[in-house]
Amino acid sequence: MTTTRQSAEAVLADQARVRISPSILSADFARLGEQVQAAEAAGADLIHVDVMDGHFVPNITIGPLVAEAVRRSTRLPMDVHLMIEQPERYIDAFAKVGADIIIVHSETCPHLERTLHQIEEAGALPAVTINPATPLSAIEEVLYLVRMILIMTVNPGFGGQKMIPAALSKVTRLKGLLAERGLDVPIEIDGGVNRGTLEQAVQAGANILVMGAALFAAPEGIATALQSYRAALENIKKQPA
Ligand code: DX5
Ligand code: ZN
Repeated sequence: MTTTRQSAEAVLADQARVRISPSILSADFARLGEQVQAAEAAGADLIHVDVMDGHFVPNITIGPLVAEAVRRSTRLPMDVHLMIEQPERYIDAFAKVGADIIIVHSETCPHLERTLHQIEEAGALPAVTINPATPLSAIEEVLYLVRMILIMTVNPGFGGQKMIPAALSKVTRLKGLLAERGLDVPIEIDGGVNRGTLEQAVQAGANILVMGAALFAAPEGIATALQSYRAALENIKKQPA
């Protein structure tokens, strides 16, 4: 495998396409490298890494060590989603092992502006996210600072949950807010993206889709599943808005 890393900036700038970021949370961790490579070969745009601490969310997942192993398995940019309290304590560690985009929750950052600058200073692209019950106003003042905005479409903590439809209306409102301010920041969504929700998500304005269970738990295998989602996205694009 070649080691030339793809540029996260280029992937984020490619706003003409809906991009897919497979979430390794639903991968088989005994075959993690192999599954990440399968996702890359099938046309994934990013690799989404879910970091959970058992405090901010009920689950505990992975740390910088595993992120570093993912980094060695792929050329794709990694978007690292920090579902942890006091994320400022770990930003440098994740940037050091090769996180390209670091996403923090507004709910965990009393000094959000400062934390986003810290991500930038660590050499990663800053991104922010909010839980389904958190209003857009929580991030309104930092929109100009971020390179991606993640709208959670489930309560974070577990893969394979059902999408909360109300969260999609937030995507549409955010899209309007960004347009008003002349900002072209990609909107990512995370949670419950599958065949039943894909079209609504794209129509609502999502630019990047995190997908866990829909890819890694697909009986037809990651590659076939990812390719069929790509084809479905092409069809959605062809429909009149
Ligand atoms: C949820 C995580 C997600 C999760 C999404 O807390 O942040 O990234 O893996 O999984 P699916 O696509 O299965 O809902
Ligand atoms: Zn996530």
